[in-house]
Amino acid sequence: MSAAHHRSDARSPAAAGRAGRPALSALSGKAWAREAVRLIEAEGRRTADTHLIALPAPIFPGIDIYMKDESVHPTGSLKHRLARSLILYGICSGAIGKDTVLVEASSGSTAVSEAYYARLLGLSFYAVLPRNTSRSKIEAILQHGGRCHFVDEPSAIYEEAGRFAAENNGYYLDQFTYAERVTDWRGNNNIAESIFEQMSLEHHREPRWIVMAPGTGGTSATIGRYIVYRGFATRLCVADPEHSAFFAGWRDADAGAACPRASRIEGVGRPRVERSFIPGVVDAMVKVPDAASVAACRVLSRLLCRRVGGSTGTNFVGALWAGARMRAAGEEGSVVTLICDSGDRYADTYFNDAWLAAQGIDIAPHAAMIERALETGEVPAKLFLDEGFRTQPHTA
Ligand SMILES: Cc1ncc(COP(=O)(O)O)c(C=O)c1O
Repeated sequence: MSAAHHRSDARSPAAAGRAGRPALSALSGKAWAREAVRLIEAEGRRTADTHLIALPAPIFPGIDIYMKDESVHPTGSLKHRLARSLILYGICSGAIGKDTVLVEASSGSTAVSEAYYARLLGLSFYAVLPRNTSRSKIEAILQHGGRCHFVDEPSAIYEEAGRFAAENNGYYLDQFTYAERVTDWRGNNNIAESIFEQMSLEHHREPRWIVMAPGTGGTSATIGRYIVYRGFATRLCVADPEHSAFFAGWRDADAGAACPRASRIEGVGRPRVERSFIPGVVDAMVKVPDAASVAACRVLSRLLCRRVGGSTGTNFVGALWAGARMRAAGEEGSVVTLICDSGDRYADTYFNDAWLAAQGIDIAPHAAMIERALETGEVPAKLFLDEGFRTQPHTA
């Protein structure tokens, strides 16, 4: 397929220019870059910060759990932040210009957000996705004017995206490599700064733990670096889903760790330890069975009166681990984790019993354990496949 076929036919009014402003398409070189940056910054200015929701039910005495609701971004997930940062990074590095074809390897969410920004700038966008990506994400990419190319083997997305970009003189955004460095980890209202700012009037304003499941690893990298940079005593727990290489890579200090099976929790869990995963900032990891992630996403959806996605379930199980650990140590305080995206994207999968049965996932035992944990504060070890904790110099 030639790149020429991929120019976005749905130009945005912003890219086409508004009264009194030159059309972005009429500019080139640095003038194009300046106007493109302005359009992206203006979009950021128009949108509000995401909410930090306090969980209504106290699960552990003296321990408050909060969830940063990243589903409310204009493109529905935490990846709105990453897409903005990746594209700004490419523009400011001189790698993205007015005729650049943008290409990405994604499990879906990032591509939705990148398609949105590509349209804002009138650029073509091409997503390389695993064939089992949820239908609603594919529809959202197409709605935003992006194009999709599917691969059967999820681990083939990287190579295919690189090949397509090279053949079409395109730019491979490569979230799995660049997520950790395109975000301003010292501040600039990144997700970590926003969390600490929003916690500032809470009873326990410095969280004991922040919990995050890894896809690129970029969000946990930003949070972890920010914690050290600002001198907080907060610890970072990364909750890895069942089929993923991150846990083994971190535990064994093995950057080459691999997992042969594709993750069933969309957005998190990878076949390899992605370069954006920064193990040095992680204090603890838990390995979460898929049945627990899905059970947690359903239980949490009931608690919050709205559906959350599978990776949010993984996060919630990690938050239960952190709360139980604090309880056992007699600690009081707060735990923060994320709502990564809405469960409405997963009506066909995590909220569909026939899909679960076809996957051989029986959530009943894990749902019972989580419901019991909500009532009694007791979190059984069986809720996790493994756990690891290390005391590092900066968190001792
Ligand atoms: C739904 C969802 N949750 C969580 C994540 C993980 O975030 P990160 O890539 O910053 O590790 C992703 C990443 O794609 C995602 O799509």
